[in-house]
Amino acid sequence: MSEKIALWGGRFQGAPAEALAALSVSTHFDWRLADYDLQGSLAHAKALHEAKLLTDNEYLALTAALEHLRQDVASGAFTYSPEDEDVHTALERGLLEDKYAGAELGGKLRAGRSRNDQIATLIRMYLRDAASHLGKQLMNLAHALINQAEAAENHLMPGRTHMQHAQPVLVAHQLMAHCWPQIRNLERLADWRKRNDASPYGGGALAGNTLGLDPELVARELGFANVCQNSIDGTASRDGVAEFLYILTQIAVDMSRLAEEIIIWNTAEFDYVTLDDAYSTGSSIMPQKKNPDVAELARGKAGRLIGDLTGLLAMLKGLPLAYDRDLQEDKEPVFDAIDTLEVLLPAMTGMVETMRLHYDRMEALSTAGFSLATDVAEWLVKQGMPFRRAHEVSGACVALAESRGCGLEDLSDADFAGVNPALTSEVRDVLSASSAVSARRGAGGTAPVRVAEQISAARVRLEWLGA
Ligand code: ARG
Repeated sequence: MSEKIALWGGRFQGAPAEALAALSVSTHFDWRLADYDLQGSLAHAKALHEAKLLTDNEYLALTAALEHLRQDVASGAFTYSPEDEDVHTALERGLLEDKYAGAELGGKLRAGRSRNDQIATLIRMYLRDAASHLGKQLMNLAHALINQAEAAENHLMPGRTHMQHAQPVLVAHQLMAHCWPQIRNLERLADWRKRNDASPYGGGALAGNTLGLDPELVARELGFANVCQNSIDGTASRDGVAEFLYILTQIAVDMSRLAEEIIIWNTAEFDYVTLDDAYSTGSSIMPQKKNPDVAELARGKAGRLIGDLTGLLAMLKGLPLAYDRDLQEDKEPVFDAIDTLEVLLPAMTGMVETMRLHYDRMEALSTAGFSLATDVAEWLVKQGMPFRRAHEVSGACVALAESRGCGLEDLSDADFAGVNPALTSEVRDVLSASSAVSARRGAGGTAPVRVAEQISAARVRLEWLGA
């Protein structure tokens, strides 16, 4: 059995209080950084060797020991013990074992580095990998939305504002409106990567090191394009973590808005969608129930991510430079957000992929709520009437239809002419949802030609982002 070690203690008279140790320990959540810590150690050993602080033989032996430890960590043969304060302590304890480097050689590794520059580097490496992993999952959701949009062809549905019937739109247009925000989130992840492509390693506790270690060498070894320009900033800033967490939160919030629509669409009143059994749940008391729990969990978990983000920002706001122990609190929120999206994204993607939209029902409701009133007003504008008047005239048609309990398209030619003589029978050309949709052919509009274009544009964008 290995002994408990600490990475500090020389100037202390006694052991830390149990209550302090219990408060201070982070190994149960930072252990997931173990492999990154060992990659950092391998790079650091190389820098020590370059600086002639390790002989060739020492460097080879230390590298072999670190690789050995790395394998054992991966297989689970080596793991942390409850005594280890954090991932760095646990791995140093391991390295000092005779089985790996032994105390003499293992004890040389810590020269010139601090847990402050280590942890700032490891979290960046970890988030870099999380960005690619989550990016792939998000890409799948975006593809599922695009595939559903394509399958919806030119089917129509009511477009809403204030949750009220507004103007008819293509089902595909509505679905793509949930896809574009996620494409932007993928762009945000790519952009985050560029901004966070700098290594804090070599910054030491805060000011750099006296040993002539080369931070650029370490950065290259760890796959960073640059070294942080300022060692205080490198070790003490966490805006990169906050920005990453914001992007994850935005992904969750955008998914939650989609989820909310699906929940409404899935009610008996709307009846727009049937969710696949595999993505629905039942009730323990009501045998008839089929609940949209995936969507509800998406909506609920978005709140959780918002909490993670605000907690992190609140923790950061009062911190003086450079490193403060408060910064240890950056990890659990961002890990929680990553873990949450990792289970949420595949479930949302599966639900979207397998849901069956009821196009007939959506189409039948597409002109409900006088949703062609704008088209009538704009038709009058094309006949030369000022929009102010046209708006009133069309509004009068709505009032008439409403008093009769019918739709605008059910008014007779005489009814229209009675409201205003400018309303000739030609106005009927605009009194269908499909003409309303086709007429909106400006860039970004819901006309079928434009929607087909945006679908191809989205596919191109995703291909580019995935490359
Ligand atoms: N566990 C710490 C963190 O996550 C890193 C250790 C730095 N600790 C210290 N006492 N300087 O931020």
